[in-house]
Order: sequence, then structure tokens, then C-alpha cells
Amino acid sequence: METDQKNELKMISSYEDYHTKYEQSVKDPESFWSEIANTFVWHQKWDKVLAYDWEIPTTKWFTNAKLNITENCLDRHLEFRADQTAIIWEPNDPSQPSKKYTYRELHAKVCQFANVLKNKGIQKGDRVCIYMPMVVELTVAMLACARIGAVHSIVFAGFSSEALATRINDSSCKMLITADGAYRGTKNIPLKNIVDEALKRCPIIESTIILKNTAQDIHWVPGRDSWWHLESMDVSNYCEAEIMDAEDPLFILYTSGSTGKPKGMVHTIAGYMVYTSFSFLNVFQYQQGDIYWCTADIGWITGHSYIVYGPLAVGATSVIFEGIPNYPGYDRFWQVCEKHQVSHFYTAPTAIRALKKHPSSLVEKYDLSCLKVLGTVGEPINVEAWQWYNDIVGNNNCPIVDTWWQTETGGIMISSLAGVTPQKSTFATLPLPGIQPTLLTPKGTELSEKEAEGILAIKFPWPGMARTIYGDHNRYKKVYFSAYPGYYFPGDGALRDIDGNYRITGRVDDVIIVSGHNLGTAPIENAINQHPLVVESALVSYPHEIKGNALYAYVITYDKDEKEENLHKEIKEIVSRLVGPIAKPDKIQIVTGLPKTRSGKIMRRILRKIANNDIASIGDTSTLLNPDVVNDIIKNKK
Ligand code: WT7
Repeated sequence: METDQKNELKMISSYEDYHTKYEQSVKDPESFWSEIANTFVWHQKWDKVLAYDWEIPTTKWFTNAKLNITENCLDRHLEFRADQTAIIWEPNDPSQPSKKYTYRELHAKVCQFANVLKNKGIQKGDRVCIYMPMVVELTVAMLACARIGAVHSIVFAGFSSEALATRINDSSCKMLITADGAYRGTKNIPLKNIVDEALKRCPIIESTIILKNTAQDIHWVPGRDSWWHLESMDVSNYCEAEIMDAEDPLFILYTSGSTGKPKGMVHTIAGYMVYTSFSFLNVFQYQQGDIYWCTADIGWITGHSYIVYGPLAVGATSVIFEGIPNYPGYDRFWQVCEKHQVSHFYTAPTAIRALKKHPSSLVEKYDLSCLKVLGTVGEPINVEAWQWYNDIVGNNNCPIVDTWWQTETGGIMISSLAGVTPQKSTFATLPLPGIQPTLLTPKGTELSEKEAEGILAIKFPWPGMARTIYGDHNRYKKVYFSAYPGYYFPGDGALRDIDGNYRITGRVDDVIIVSGHNLGTAPIENAINQHPLVVESALVSYPHEIKGNALYAYVITYDKDEKEENLHKEIKEIVSRLVGPIAKPDKIQIVTGLPKTRSGKIMRRILRKIANNDIASIGDTSTLLNPDVVNDIIKNKK
């Protein structure tokens, strides 16, 4: 191993420094990224930093370099911070003890489980599906795969057996790692039952390893099933790391697309490692000794990049939380922050909005003076939620990083650097060094003036980008590189202010054309939300004889007793005033909830089908956060 410990990844620490680095990253990307890559440990350095052709499309970073990511996340820390806490685990039930794992302990656990995988016949390149609760063993399992060069495919443990089976089969996983059950609030989810159901349709799975977590009774399939603790008995915790190529796959992670079939995004080792570490350190301005907590599930990219790989690669202390924000009460997040003296807190706008509905005394009863930096991710954050986060949680004293990125980008693309570059509420602000965003017209012409609104596109490769869709490179090309040839197309719209700050305005596929006018759903929803009785709204279109499309608004209100007619009238007036008469919703339905994905995004596809009376083709709703809401909306449709 070539180690160069003096050469630590340096943090961008001033606005000037940001500009200098940004310019360097555009003028000479190869020297910019190689400087950063040089701070990691490699078995062999690269021949070429970057080779790409987005017509094919292909992107390769650090060609022919050899490494193992777990040596960067674990082994290299043993010299200087072996006894530092790598992971703090906080259980679902606050009366149970939390646990801490040092880098030395985590290293030993990963190596031991890597040997278990080998004993079960897993080899470099094999795909291993992981379907587990938020326990430390989930991290151990993923790093153990990386240790031996197996490719992990983590499926969020809230997904149904159907969703699990589809994902296992799509990437032909040989092994499944799971647990008997999972605690989530007051619920005990029978993971193993769900797995048994799924595996009826997955003949390619040869073996499963089951963690005893809830100790509930499970059905046992002899010859296939084995216990984690029994397989680990007397297994050595020394395991030489497999030497991997920079562009070997590290993991597959599924994300939903506009069609029903999930896309297995493939991330490769070296670029992902370099990009998640660099972005973690700089966006959050993480300092040694800080306690960092990202509330996402490891089953999402946010958890992969910013609970596990990014933080561990730079030797941080990362919190893993097994529970949910409202168990046992709506103060759980703040109680955990105080308990573990969390300095960096990263969550989603949907969680912020849910918590904001409750009295601020639930936040204020805790001493949160430990907090230094707040973050948000997953969807645009509205002003009211931002303000509450800033005033009540941050006590007006913590920079907020609004981080725009995607499963496909691997890491944060547009965000302020906490306390270093200026923040602006509801704006993700500036691109990270190395990221070259632009705005396009629908025809694909770049908008050259500073202040502009258009389709967001990325002009140049960055190390963290997904390299393909597993088993379907054509789809990768079609979805991301064909709409605007020469650009990566993320599918979002954005506007840019005079200072170059970007504000993400929502998916561009949510644009609705009414009587020839382009209407974004986001500004209309924002207008509807201005009504004092409105909690949240979602707007979709349905076909209209004359206008082409008409607008259907689903609205959640605070007060169900308010006369509906009045409310409809007032909402239309507000929209008319703030956006224009053309944007007035044609139909308004008051609902109790909106169908959302687990990452908090409104499933407009489903709402569109309901508005179109196309109930039959709604399809599987089991992966939603709140599947019940769909039937409610259908029942009450006017
Ligand atoms: C989509 C990606 C990145 C991890 C979580 C979601 C939206 C994400 C923001 C933000 C406005 C955002 C975009 C993007 N999005 N972050 N800070 N402001 N919109 O990952 O499930 O792959 O979704 O989430 O629309 O394209 P994902």
C-alpha cells in the first residue's frame, strides 16, 4: 500500500479558496482531482485521471489504479485513530442502550464477516443483496462485500417482497443478507417472512445469512438459511483486502424511473470514494471530534454516501439511528442530538415539515447548543420549513446546507459549504468544485446570461457519477445522455440568480402545458400553500378538450371544518394572483395525505392516474411510505 498520511484531504476554508478551487477544477480537472485522489491509499496509482466520451456514453476515472475502499475507510485509520468512535448506534427504543464502535472494532467485524462471505462461496464480482434494518451489521455487511470485491445491492428494508424479488432478480444476486425482524417505532417488521415470500421467485439465490435482531420465531429453510452469529463463530478477523480496479463496481442501488422498472445504478470504486469523501468534508466542514448524524436510511444513496462511505473515508464519527422521527414522541430527533452531542445534523424537508407541525417546545426542551451545521436533501425546501429549521432547530446560529444531488450523481453536486460560501434560503446555491452545471432551453441551447431559468444539465464528468444502469446501458444512455446530447440530464429544472446561485424548481417532467402555456407544478403549489389553511398540495394534469391539459390540485388542510366551497374559491384567487389566471386549478380535492416515496417525494404519477380516472393502471403501491392514502383519495374523488 502506498500511504501518504501527511497528505490529508484539505478542506476548502474560505470563499476565496472556493473560487480558486472552482476555477482550477474547470481549467484543469485532471490535476484538481488527482491532487485529491493522492490523499488516499492505493496499491497502484492511475495511468490517466479521466477518459470519457458522452456520445457512447462512457466515463472512466483513475484508469488502471488499484485499491480497496475498505483500506481507506478502515485500515488507514488504525494508525492514528484506532480507538476513535467510528459509529454510534442509537436503537429504536430509547430505553435500550446505544452502542459505540471504534475504528479498530469496526475493522475487525468487517474482516471477520468478509471471511464468512468467502466461506459461503462469495467471490469478487458476485452480487450480494442486503435487506436489513438500521443496525451496525448492515454497515458491516456492505463493507465486508467491498473488502472481498463483491458488489452489494442494498434494498431498503421497508420494501415489499415483490419489490425485493424484482431487485434481486434484476442483478442476479447469489446471496441475501437479512435479519429475523426489524424494529420501527411500535412495529416489529417480520423481515424474514418477507424474504421467504420474495425468494420463492428468486431461484438464483443460493444462500441467506440471517442476523438475530428481534429474536422472533422465523421459518427456516434448511440448506439455504444460516445464522450470522453461528457462521461467524471461530472465524478469523484478519482478512486481506481484495485488490480492485478503480472502475470495478462497488455497488448497485435501485432508483425509480418514469417507467415501472427500477433502474439499478452502478457506482464504481475509486471515483465514488474520492467524490463522497471530498464532498462530505467540504459541504459539512467536518472537523475531527465532530459528531455527524444523517437521518436517512442506509438503503438510500444518502445513507450509502453520507452515513457510511464518505464519513468513514475521512475518519469521522457517524451516527446510525434505528428508529423513526416520531417514536416514542415527536421530539426523538432532538433527544438523540442532545444525547450524543450531535454537531452536524442532516435530514429531509419532509421530516422537517412533519416536525414543524408540532409545538416548538418539543425542540426547545433540549440543549441543542452542540449543533453546528444543519443539512437538507431530497426535495426543494419551502421557505417556511427552512425558516423553522434555521430559527427553532439551529437557534439562528447554524449554517444550513441545502444539498442538491441524486442517486445517479453519487454525491452532493450543488450546495453551499457550511459557513464558507453564502447560503440563501430555498437555493441549493453554488456547484461544488468539479461540478459544471448549466441551464438549457427546452431545445437544448445554453442560457448564457447569469439570471435565467431552464433545464438543469451538467457539462462535464465528475468522479462520483453512476457509470451505467445494471444490465441496460442503452437505458442509461437514453435517460441521461440523449435528451440533450453532450450533457448529463438530471431531469430537474432550476433557476439561477445574478450571483450564480441555483434554485431547484422541481422535476422538469412535472411541467404542464395548459392552453400552450408552460406551467411548472412547483410555483403553483407554492401559491396554493400560501393559503393559511393549507398544509401541503400537489398539482397534476388531466386531459382537457380545449386547453389540452387541465389542472387538478390535491390539497391537505389544517381545518377540515372550513367550508369547502369557500376554500376552493380562495385557493383559485391566490393562484390567480401569484401565478396568473391561467394557472388556476380546474379541480380541487381536499385530501388527508399525499402518496409519497420513502424519500418523501410526492408520487405524482399516481395522482395523475387518479385525476385521469385511470385507477386500473396504478400498479404496485406497496413501496410507498403511505399506501393507504391512495385508496382514501380514490374513494373521495369527486
Ligand atoms: C431528486 C433525486 C440525493 C439523495 C436523496 C434523493 C430531488 C434532491 C434536492 C434539493 C431540490 C432535490 C431532485 C433530484 N432533490 N435534493 N436539495 N433540492 N430537489 O435522491 O431519490 O435519487 O432523487 O431529488 O428532483 O433529481 P433521489
